[in-house]
Amino acid sequence: MSDATTDTFPILGYDAVEFWVGNAKQAAHYYRTAFGFELVGYAGPETGVRDRASYVLKQRAVRFVFSTALSADHEITRHQGRHGDGVRDVAFTVPDAEEAFRIAIERGAPPHHEPEVHEDEHGKVVIAAIKAYGDTIHSFVQRSDYSGVYLPGFEPVDRDPLARPVGLSGIDHVVCNVGWGEMDEWSSFYAGILGFSEFRHFTDEDISTEYTALMSKVLWDGVGRIKLPINEPAEGKRKSQIEEYLDAYGSPGVQHIAISSGDIVETVRKLRENGVQFLSVPPEYYEDAKERVGGIDESWDALAELGILVDRDDEGYLLQIFTEPVEDRPTVFYEIIQRHGATGFGLGNFKALFESIERAQERRGNL
Ligand code: FE2
Repeated sequence: MSDATTDTFPILGYDAVEFWVGNAKQAAHYYRTAFGFELVGYAGPETGVRDRASYVLKQRAVRFVFSTALSADHEITRHQGRHGDGVRDVAFTVPDAEEAFRIAIERGAPPHHEPEVHEDEHGKVVIAAIKAYGDTIHSFVQRSDYSGVYLPGFEPVDRDPLARPVGLSGIDHVVCNVGWGEMDEWSSFYAGILGFSEFRHFTDEDISTEYTALMSKVLWDGVGRIKLPINEPAEGKRKSQIEEYLDAYGSPGVQHIAISSGDIVETVRKLRENGVQFLSVPPEYYEDAKERVGGIDESWDALAELGILVDRDDEGYLLQIFTEPVEDRPTVFYEIIQRHGATGFGLGNFKALFESIERAQERRGNL
């Protein structure tokens, strides 16, 4: 376990999640009107950036960036062709990007780019990056001397008439899918390079259904700012949902991002009104859940109406719900989560959830 005095790889939090997409203007519109994000910054030809357009969206502590290239011969265009819209960068805010990069490389991380200083009238930001699973990177962003909207080159957007916040407040965890037999390689990567430790380990016994199986390990920073579960497919009767993702994305990558809410009932009600589609939950789920979970503050009727799942561990309970993939390829989706003390990931819900994912997989003809 690490703490402030012994941590050799201090991470202050998630800096941003950057998506490389086919049409950032439209993706930003969707995240503003459906998920309630506010457009706060923009970079593109109008601001002196010639090769791409990037939109910075915020909701409380969650920052998403959507970027599109303006030509065919561009790394963003190639990424989009291979993966579809997806997460390129899970960026961390660090106190010293140069030092973070130096330590990561010394510990064997593959470099993506060396520390670069970006400056404008609002100060300076130092950014370095390492390569992670698939084509995903982790940037280390040092922004303590910067007061601008996001990074030099971005112009602030003063007011967003489209944004309708839904109460999303922060990133709880970011989950990746890796290939067959790659779980240990990637858990060692986060343990060895970022100094993370294993928080939870679920075997295929825990989280398999009749048809599909997977294994999952949760790596975390020891203090709870960063939690990165890793999924690997396991042998089942039919194609695992992790395999379906790997086929569609074309490589390992981010599977889902869990975002916390202080009032999940209100948040999910608004998201549903905005047209966000969630996995359906069989009505029988709530009969079992009441027995399994016991007393909770929320109304069971509201949870059942909205399809919100509940689970309890030794420390409390949690509420969670999963969206359908938000692209046509069955790749990235979202989890909305509210914790009442529980620190787990809804193990008791895995089976119920996966059975409902399989129903969706079957409708796509991939089971
Ligand atoms: Fe999750």
